[in-house]
Amino acid sequence: MNARHDVLSLEPRESAPTLPDQFRPHPLRGPFNALFFTALDRYLDRLLRPHKQSLFGSLPATVVELGPGVGANLRYLRAGTRLIAVEPNPAMHDRLRARAARAHIDLELHTTSAERIDLPDESVDAVISSLLLCTVTDPVAVLSEVHRILRPGGQYAFLEHVAAPDGTALRRLQRAVRRPWSWTFEGCSCERDLQAVIEAVGFAETTVETYRLRSPFVPVNSQIAGVARNRN
Ligand SMILES: C[S@@+](CC[C@H](N)C(=O)[O-])C[C@H]1O[C@@H](n2cnc3c(N)ncnc32)[C@H](O)[C@@H]1O
Repeated sequence: MNARHDVLSLEPRESAPTLPDQFRPHPLRGPFNALFFTALDRYLDRLLRPHKQSLFGSLPATVVELGPGVGANLRYLRAGTRLIAVEPNPAMHDRLRARAARAHIDLELHTTSAERIDLPDESVDAVISSLLLCTVTDPVAVLSEVHRILRPGGQYAFLEHVAAPDGTALRRLQRAVRRPWSWTFEGCSCERDLQAVIEAVGFAETTVETYRLRSPFVPVNSQIAGVARNRN
């Protein structure tokens, strides 16, 4: 991993109470982001739909979603799905609840951070997330939790924006905007090599597609989508 990528330690960690894994809601930026993702919901879905359809098109009856925000992925779930949503940002909750009710999704909202998911080991068949690992404080801890809660053969389907290849103009732009971007989007980084992190946490098999969006939100145009599986 390049030295200028975000620091994503893959070293074994002890569970210390000082780990900076608690999401801290912001009284202004939380509601701003809820409004932002609501206003752009249809536009973002048009951009991401081909990838999301293949990732989220045939999910089981119970799904865990990490960081669902205002519910961008609920449109991919069948009515009657039990959705265990791990979303610590209170600014997202009302819209998420309303949307789940409209879509006839049985929503179980967990307000913990995804770094410490309050679900038992090997208890679910499917975990999904989109545009999440860019924002969490500790992607390695989140992915270790995904690995822990998935049953043997269970799948994690993800879609993320990532650092562009070193030396490209896009990579330089991602570096240049890092501070205002992170401030505005509640910790979001465009500089993470998330494919490397996903591949390093111990899934039995990982399939990743790399692609480039054409959107005005240029720093997030380098993306990955894929599935990581636990051993059967
Ligand atoms: C960029 S938004 C994406 C929302 C939604 N997944 C989408 O695709 O529109 C990131 C989401 O992750 C949530 N989030 C941030 N840190 C988190 C954490 N540590 N654990 C779980 N969710 C978190 C935020 O509250 C927000 O809803």
